[in-house]
Amino acid sequence: MTEHDDRVSRALDAIRVHLRSEAEFGLEALSRAARSPAPVESRAVPPVEPRIEPRVEPRTETPADSRTAPPAAPARPVESPPPRPTPVAAAAAPRSDFVPRVAPLRERLGSADARAALDALEADVAACTRCKLHATRTCTVPGEGHANPDLLFIGEGPGEEEDRSGRPFVGRAGELLTKIIGAMGFSRETVHIANIVKCRPPGNRVPEPDEIAACQPYLTRQIELLKPKLICTLGLPATRTILGITQGIKAARGREFVWNGIPVIPTFHPAYLLRNPDDKPLVWQDAQTIVRRLIGLGATLPNPDALKKFKDPPPDAAP
Ligand code: URA
Repeated sequence: MTEHDDRVSRALDAIRVHLRSEAEFGLEALSRAARSPAPVESRAVPPVEPRIEPRVEPRTETPADSRTAPPAAPARPVESPPPRPTPVAAAAAPRSDFVPRVAPLRERLGSADARAALDALEADVAACTRCKLHATRTCTVPGEGHANPDLLFIGEGPGEEEDRSGRPFVGRAGELLTKIIGAMGFSRETVHIANIVKCRPPGNRVPEPDEIAACQPYLTRQIELLKPKLICTLGLPATRTILGITQGIKAARGREFVWNGIPVIPTFHPAYLLRNPDDKPLVWQDAQTIVRRLIGLGATLPNPDALKKFKDPPPDAAP
């Protein structure tokens, strides 16, 4: 075998491994975007420890029992809501083509009351100047999806694409998250996707503690309105912000904690998975744990066929 043949053979092996792991998340075809080289959200996730009040008593030693932890007092909503309804990025650099973005209509499912309350919250977020991120944002990114979801994903903060579009997880990490959601038997429309900060940290850096703290009342209110059956935190900053724990994401992932009575199961951030594809099976494992737990909580899977690909489908819920 020539050196060239050897290189080709190694490249083909790498592609085979990559496609196999993509297929686990339901990839059926390669999009052009999937081949684009620039990882928009390839931010590092250093072990930040936001200095904010933890809102739960995480029972890290016996996570299975943690559902009984007493709910912490919910944070107050933003003190004096700014005047509405002008959902514009108040102090953002003006752009002639600026259009305040909320999620497209087809994704705005849920009860009218919950929807209206979320709309009001989104308007507050759009006018927010509580932290320095407002000065550099293009659009606020409040979150999107079902207004009464069984499952809420919470990520870190908007990246470049999200800042431009006003929608969460629409870059490469978002593409992967969308596949994971599909493999779990849901769709982006039937879950809700949010972030711990609603404005893009410049250069996709990790949100700073004061930014996380300033945005926290919005997130708290959002969760209270959505009332999800289960929360999946994506990556370390989201996990520590919600749970107030100090352990790393490798120790916390796949285990069950509780936030104000709602089960929380952390997993790796999809941007981390883009850089560490060997860990995709761990996320697939966590995803199956989440779905099994949701079914146990009475959730109905929009696409129960997804269970056919589960290693160990819940017996009562087999399609
Ligand atoms: N990463 C996040 O944490 N959130 C987004 O919305 C996009 C990328």
